[in-house]
Amino acid sequence: MAPIEMSLVSLIVLILCTSAPISATNFFDCPAIFNFGASNADTGGLAAAFQALQLPNGETFFNRSTGRFSDGRIIIDFIAQSFGLPFLSPYLNSLGPNFTHGVNFATAASTIKIPNSIIPNGMFSPFYLRIQYIQFRDFIPRTKFIRDQGGVFATLIPKEEYFSKALYTFDIGQNDLTGGFFGNVTIQQVNATIPDIVNNFIVNIKNIHSLGARSFWIHNTGPIGCLPLILANFPSAIKDSYGCAKQYNEVSQYFNLKLKEALAQLRVDLPLAAITYVDVYSPKYSLFQNPKKYGFELPLVACCGYGGEYNYDNRARCGETININGTRIFVGSCKSPSTRIIWDGTHYTEAANKIVFDQISTGAFTDPPIPLNRACYRKLT
Ligand SMILES: *[C@@H]1O[C@H](CO)[C@@H](O)[C@H](O)[C@H]1NC(C)=O
Ligand SMILES: *[C@@H]1O[C@H](CO)[C@@H](O)[C@H](O)[C@H]1NC(C)=O
Ligand SMILES: *[C@@H]1O[C@H](CO)[C@@H](O)[C@H](O)[C@H]1NC(C)=O
Ligand SMILES: *[C@@H]1O[C@H](CO)[C@@H](O)[C@H](O)[C@H]1NC(C)=O
Ligand SMILES: *[C@@H]1O[C@H](CO)[C@@H](O)[C@H](O)[C@H]1NC(C)=O
Repeated sequence: MAPIEMSLVSLIVLILCTSAPISATNFFDCPAIFNFGASNADTGGLAAAFQALQLPNGETFFNRSTGRFSDGRIIIDFIAQSFGLPFLSPYLNSLGPNFTHGVNFATAASTIKIPNSIIPNGMFSPFYLRIQYIQFRDFIPRTKFIRDQGGVFATLIPKEEYFSKALYTFDIGQNDLTGGFFGNVTIQQVNATIPDIVNNFIVNIKNIHSLGARSFWIHNTGPIGCLPLILANFPSAIKDSYGCAKQYNEVSQYFNLKLKEALAQLRVDLPLAAITYVDVYSPKYSLFQNPKKYGFELPLVACCGYGGEYNYDNRARCGETININGTRIFVGSCKSPSTRIIWDGTHYTEAANKIVFDQISTGAFTDPPIPLNRACYRKLT
């Protein structure tokens, strides 16, 4: 076909497309991912900033500890792989990062709100959500500078057009809730802070949007009352029929309700943004309801841990060597992590993460109900 005929065809296609209804959308493959969050989405950020995690973290897939809190891949890894993209390098990784298809700003122990106690003296990551936003804000002009300079570093950063086309993913909020539970406050008091936590979350999403982000994939929070972290530390909690701490899960549910409502409002406030709310709570909870169906046993017992009914003790972290009455004990993995839901008492195994990923990527748990492979879209209003 001659170039002139080609452009005629293009013109006709263009006319046909632009006459589509006003809410038409244009789907494309996400070329990059910018991720924000906490340990459920950390691919090695906290480990890069402070100290390496030890094996058996990473044993199943990587055969080395990458800084992920799991035996293998986490949900953000499956998301990247589903787009044919490499695993995300942590922003804080100074050794050999490759940011061509995205960056991971998530660090374990991050909160949405400013933390009142930070590592190494306290419990939380200093890189809470606003700092992650600021790191991203600074990243954009710095990549432009490097791109303009050329050379080897210019081959390791995203193309300029990726910032508007990328998928912006979020998994954060659990630590704001658990931080409350471990503080000297009641469940109801933690619950009452949720509207403020969610408002804070929204402010950060708006800030990231104002830098040109358009497609958002935002996870809600999981059933914290099913985690050994909660079950072992609050033994008198009322249990549901699956053995999960009922009221703690209700706090997760209230967070999720407020988040879903706030994102519905955000779609009105930011009409050009593609905002997907992703319910990870339901697929995670269904693992505890029906462990056998998914090939799991001992649903509430940590695979890598030590002590008690839930194989969990705050003082015996996965991969550490502890001293019990003068005997040194290595806190290692259970025999087959692939038959377990919970990895270390707070995080999920690769096998569980894969099942949750498979379910959320279909669109059955998202609002609006779009599958992951259509999450990058542009409204043509
Ligand atoms: C895993 O790593 C260990 C050393 O840490 C090595 O001996 C072993 O061969 C590795 N296994 C695989 C499958 O790469
Ligand atoms: C960085 O990642 C991209 C995409 O995976 C790859 O094509 C490129 O070779 C990588 N660069 C280096 C220096 O490894
Ligand atoms: C916890 O709260 C109770 C009641 O508000 C108070 O009496 C107590 O001193 C507090 N304990 C700590 C360790 O802050
Ligand atoms: C949390 O607060 C909401 C709104 O006041 C309420 O409906 C819900 O029952 C509360 N949940 C818990 C566990 O206190
Ligand atoms: C340590 O020894 C004490 C006294 O013999 C005993 O009561 C306790 O259960 C032991 N702790 C563990 C974790 O085995």
